[in-house]
Amino acid sequence: MGVMPTTPPSPASAASADPRNESIAALSTFGSIRRLYPFVRPAMPRLIGGLLSALGASLAALAIPQALKWVVNGPLAAGAQERDWRGLAVAVAIVLVLGLAEAGLILLRRTLVMFPGTQVEADMRMALFRHLQNLPIAFHDRWPGGQLLSRIMGDLGLLRRWLIFGVLQLVVSATTIVVGIAILVATAGWLGLVYLAGAIPVVVIVFRFSRKYRLISRQSQDQSGDLATTVEESVHGIRVLKAFGRGRDALASFTDQADELRRTEMKKASVDAGLMTSLTLIPELTIAACVVLGTILAADGQIDLGDLVMFFATTAVINGPVVDLGMTLSMTLNARTAVDRYFEVIDTPNTVADPAEPVRVPIPAGEVSLRDVTFRYEDAERPVLEHVDLDLPAGTTTALVGLTGSGKSTLAMLVPRLFDVTGGQVLLDGADVRDLTRDQVRTTVAVAFEDPTLFSASVRDNVLLGVSDDLPAAEREARLHEAIDVAQAQFVADLPLGVETRIGEEGLSLSGGQRQRLALARAVAARPPVLVLDDPLSALDVTTEEAVTARLRDVLRTTTSLIIAHRPSTVALADRVAVLRDGRITAVGTHSELLARDPHYRHIISSLEEDYASHVHAAALDTETEPEEQSL
Ligand SMILES: Nc1ncnc2c1ncn2[C@@H]1O[C@H](COP(=O)(O)OP(=O)(O)O)[C@@H](O)[C@H]1O
Ligand SMILES: [Mg+2]
Repeated sequence: MGVMPTTPPSPASAASADPRNESIAALSTFGSIRRLYPFVRPAMPRLIGGLLSALGASLAALAIPQALKWVVNGPLAAGAQERDWRGLAVAVAIVLVLGLAEAGLILLRRTLVMFPGTQVEADMRMALFRHLQNLPIAFHDRWPGGQLLSRIMGDLGLLRRWLIFGVLQLVVSATTIVVGIAILVATAGWLGLVYLAGAIPVVVIVFRFSRKYRLISRQSQDQSGDLATTVEESVHGIRVLKAFGRGRDALASFTDQADELRRTEMKKASVDAGLMTSLTLIPELTIAACVVLGTILAADGQIDLGDLVMFFATTAVINGPVVDLGMTLSMTLNARTAVDRYFEVIDTPNTVADPAEPVRVPIPAGEVSLRDVTFRYEDAERPVLEHVDLDLPAGTTTALVGLTGSGKSTLAMLVPRLFDVTGGQVLLDGADVRDLTRDQVRTTVAVAFEDPTLFSASVRDNVLLGVSDDLPAAEREARLHEAIDVAQAQFVADLPLGVETRIGEEGLSLSGGQRQRLALARAVAARPPVLVLDDPLSALDVTTEEAVTARLRDVLRTTTSLIIAHRPSTVALADRVAVLRDGRITAVGTHSELLARDPHYRHIISSLEEDYASHVHAAALDTETEPEEQSL
């Protein structure tokens, strides 16, 4: 995450920088939208039903002018001579029935498509979320949260509205126009052809509009994603912003982005307005021309009055759909953008996937080995880890020590396969982690990260996150309390509802040390064969830390653990210490051995807080003389 207030988050979103988008953009709107089919298929019967009702409604509307023609040429023409009351009654009845049918069919259409629209939206939303959960950390490092948020909320909402309203309206408008013009050409000869000629500029304008509108629509939807990212980051970092008095800058940068989006929306509206004007004006001008021609033709007796009335009544029926076409066209183009943006995420392959034929490890012993491991972050120039060999024998505790940026956290993330190595292997009980299912790996390895993440859920749910729901309630309860005890998180008892207290988003209602203890409790509660702790005690005070350390010894006795330590007192927990320097393991040994022979280790230890260094040094010297302490 960049420093939000001074540098606005990458304005060109990850998505628009992706070269793959070029090929997506090259797809036609139809080609894009066709990709919806798998999601829409279950809703097809209802959608088709809705479409048929809509078509029926517009055919009923188109038939009304025919009845009018019949009235004009029949009962009306008969006029004064003989009043054809019966004919008139029949005509009125027909118009009435057609009108009722139109209204009924419109209602039917609404009811039919409401369900599929919302269903498709929900299905697509779930599929996207599932995919997001599945995608590796590397993907989430690259994609700003707001872009995903805007896709999962905004774009899918657009799609639903289009499915419920736009797509049917588009088909119905197009059909009404085509059938209407066909009727005009067939029954009104020249007059119909003049009207048809009006369609030529409309087609040209629609085509030019589509090209322009598509780009603006993409821009606007990307910009709302960037805006969402800004909101997300500033809410996330609200404490920092407030503490550094950067609220004003955050507001300024937000205002700029919001204004940019507003300008894009204005541009979009003005392009849209241009289309609407043309679509209103051109038919009106055509009709004006038809009025002139129609009057001449009628005066010459080349067209009878009934046909003339029918002609103009029909053009009135077509006019509505022509204007609607403009509206539904922009909706369709927005929907297309939404589909493109949606599939950009869905199409991203999962690089950390389960193997086709996973290896089975019946009872994990928890032995971990890194063999000649090299790791480079995507887009990074240099590897973070190079030729790392490290064995964590089952049941032992290894401390990983190194200066900031030496690659400790990175190494820790390779064990639960949050990233895949770029060279070498990470072995879990002799099996490459890539040959195991991710479920297997992650039930074997539990992690407490440096930066503890909590969810807005109860303390209980946060701590039991890694504990199977299938476990008996009593067992879960026991795990909960044991973990809280080990992590010295007894403070939860003082929360208003104890372990049932819902902690705020990201656990922000707790102190850093409290959050860290809950994250540690979570890792401990999972009772994993392998425990990876990324500096789990850094935010604790000395007394609490000592208490946690004492209790952790018990837990670590049965577990293979890798503890990243920034404090000598944490190092004291370990059987062995591995020193990581510039991405390589340079020394492995006990704390005292390394102190004696490794200058870099001495440098690291002395660069840690002075009082801690002396504290642990003394502790380490103690352990040397006390054999039972040696076997931690
Ligand atoms: N997601 C990432 N993408 C690219 N580089 C990263 C990423 N995370 C860490 N790095 C880089 O990798 C190096 C090692 O980082 P890290 O493993 O966090 O070190 P440590 O935990 O030892 O302080 C650093 O130079 C850091 O900038
Ligand atoms: Mg780190």
